[in-house]
Amino acid sequence: MHTINALKAQFRKLSHAHLPYHWFESLLLFVLNKDKAFLITHDDYLLTADEYDGLESGMAKLCSGVPLAYVIGRQGFFGHEFSVNEHTLIPRPDTEMLVEAALDVAADKGLGQARILDLGTGSGCIALSIAKALPSSTVLAVDYSHRALDVARRNAQDLQVANCQFIQSNWYENIPIQSFDVIASNPPYIARTDEHLAQLGAEPITALVADNHGLSDIEKIIKGSAVYLMPSGVLALEHGYDQGAGVRTLFAKAGFKDVRTVKDYGGNDRITMGICDE
Ligand SMILES: C[S@@+](CC[C@H](N)C(=O)[O-])C[C@H]1O[C@@H](n2cnc3c(N)ncnc32)[C@H](O)[C@@H]1O
Repeated sequence: MHTINALKAQFRKLSHAHLPYHWFESLLLFVLNKDKAFLITHDDYLLTADEYDGLESGMAKLCSGVPLAYVIGRQGFFGHEFSVNEHTLIPRPDTEMLVEAALDVAADKGLGQARILDLGTGSGCIALSIAKALPSSTVLAVDYSHRALDVARRNAQDLQVANCQFIQSNWYENIPIQSFDVIASNPPYIARTDEHLAQLGAEPITALVADNHGLSDIEKIIKGSAVYLMPSGVLALEHGYDQGAGVRTLFAKAGFKDVRTVKDYGGNDRITMGICDE
């Protein structure tokens, strides 16, 4: 007898710090295709055999270390639902600050029709959130991974975004020369030796790791940006909590002005931005 009430008790026993109770609840809601209120109002609901099979197989994946977002194939970000799979990073709440930074730049400059480039788009969470918030803007989303781009394109369709284009490229390599008001990127920035990598084993390593203490992709993006930014265009980059000073130095060396770092919700350096001085 697999009632919701009995399952909740089972979830409580199984959950711990790295496997939170709400992951099980979210999985159950996904399997039942219901919203959260259903779990409160239907304690005696008896799962069908198919529903229980789906729940069991999802629970086995969660218990083996697969993150919830990959088990249910989606993740909320900036108020939208994004499909994700093993070829895309799972969008993080801190990255919403990069979207906010890009939107603030567009608002400060009075740019309803901003031109925005998102480098390393993954699921498309940054590009598509900006494109939704600024429907008159044009957004170009770039990734090296064809498989990530497939997911991003599907998300564009599901979110009914028409003002975002996608290109496969190794950073700027395949991007036709043009000028952007804002370049935003959450590139790989974790050092190969970083101990936190062990906890991120389910996510694509190419989305996470960069050479030179995690700074090599950031450096390439900064160096290449002058060609693609409007005069006074803004480059905004997400980076590691301990990379703020290093990234500011790279911005300054490349001639950016008004370089500043924004802290994340945990009070750590997270996004550095600067104005192109060319
Ligand atoms: C940290 S993930 C960010 C994904 C997404 N923007 C987000 O915030 O969730 C970095 C992304 O950069 C892409 N990437 C890595 N190297 C690249 C390269 N040389 N050129 C273009 N994209 C690259 C990866 O495939 C991955 O999707």
